[in-house]
Amino acid sequence: MSELLVLVLFIATLGLPGSICVSAAFLPIQDRGIRGCGESLDHALAAARRLHSYYGKDRGMYSENNYQWTDSNALEDVQNLMLLSGSDAYSETSETSYLARAAFDPGMDWNGWLGKYNDDTQWHVLSLWKMSDYRRKRGGDPRPYLAAAERMYDIISSHWDDECGGGLWWTTEHTYKNAITNEQFLLLSAAGYLRNHNQTYLDNAKNVWQWLRHSGMRNHQGLFNDGLNFTSCHNNGQTTWTYNQGLVASGLGALSAATGDKALLDEAEITLDATIAHLTTNGILRETCDKDTNEGKNCDGDQQIFKGLWTKHLMYYLEFANEPHRAQKYSQFLGAQSAAIHRHATNITSGDIGSVWYTPTQAGSIFSYKTVTSGLAAHIAAAKYGAC
Ligand SMILES: *[C@@H]1O[C@H](CO)[C@@H](O)[C@H](O)[C@H]1NC(C)=O
Ligand SMILES: *[C@@H]1O[C@H](CO)[C@@H](O)[C@H](O)[C@H]1NC(C)=O
Ligand SMILES: *[C@@H]1O[C@H](CO)[C@@H](O)[C@H](O)[C@H]1NC(C)=O
Repeated sequence: MSELLVLVLFIATLGLPGSICVSAAFLPIQDRGIRGCGESLDHALAAARRLHSYYGKDRGMYSENNYQWTDSNALEDVQNLMLLSGSDAYSETSETSYLARAAFDPGMDWNGWLGKYNDDTQWHVLSLWKMSDYRRKRGGDPRPYLAAAERMYDIISSHWDDECGGGLWWTTEHTYKNAITNEQFLLLSAAGYLRNHNQTYLDNAKNVWQWLRHSGMRNHQGLFNDGLNFTSCHNNGQTTWTYNQGLVASGLGALSAATGDKALLDEAEITLDATIAHLTTNGILRETCDKDTNEGKNCDGDQQIFKGLWTKHLMYYLEFANEPHRAQKYSQFLGAQSAAIHRHATNITSGDIGSVWYTPTQAGSIFSYKTVTSGLAAHIAAAKYGAC
């Protein structure tokens, strides 16, 4: 696609009439004075085409081994791209996906369908919301997706108790309380309230943030470690994954939008800024398992997608915050991630995007639909808020 066409397309999407009258949170917000990067939109469209080549129509999934949580994130990214660009290229894909099929099944036994992981369930909710936004925007009925999301929310909510002062359990087996599950619950509760105005959601959002902030999981650097030691209820000192630093920001952004409390945005930026200060090399995000050689252990099937999640949730944070000076603050960084992914991590022949973004040396890079998804999310965030 020519750059001019991309530019025209990009400007056209910013002015889509549909996006003004839809009040639901989480739709692209028209931030005044914010320009995204047109080249990043071009890269995102290319990444989405490559991602689609992994899609198995029969199974309704990108993964071959039923890896549902990353599949749901891939679906969510594709909705974000269609919402931002005005393209309908993947509407059928979404509507026939494993997640849509489940949502359309009136007799669905959700407890059976969902696995034991409460974090996985919450990724499905985020994806269902975006699928509902896209469907509504195209004149369809969003309710099947929203109803499924509501059922899932009720299921995970039941795994909150008072051990270690509160918090949701990571799994239905109740053996671990960790950051990601509770950060997601903050986001789902606050963003859910913005959608449905159900007071229970807002109460949950306030409770989980009170718990998180006193849990000790945020360390002296401002980064969230993985979780709690269950004997002591203290920070277990495990890895500060990038996605943990992004999810808390989108959750706090949503809670700020719900309550009007701007101090929550400053709380979010403590952790966002700590990510940039501590989890980068050459100004580019680097997961602790990312490296430039293939010696030793590289990122596993979950970890390959974390950096993209950080960028996606920074984008959501900026949507909720909806303040130009905050978007301005992160625009260079978002643009730099997109440019590095294009220059360092993309195989021009295949269109694949690898897992290692911070260096041109790709020996330690992994190429999979997950790493393509991760790159796609970063390109979309830069298309919306990045500087070229
Ligand atoms: C509000 O949300 C709670 C928790 O999901 C649910 O039990 C309740 O039925 C909802 N209330 C309304 C009016 O929908
Ligand atoms: C958890 O905390 C207990 C009690 O303070 C300590 O003895 C134990 O070594 C800790 N476990 C880990 C894995 O850090
Ligand atoms: C890029 O993709 C092509 C086509 O799949 C493949 O043959 C080639 O080995 C890849 N290059 C690198 C550097 O991985």
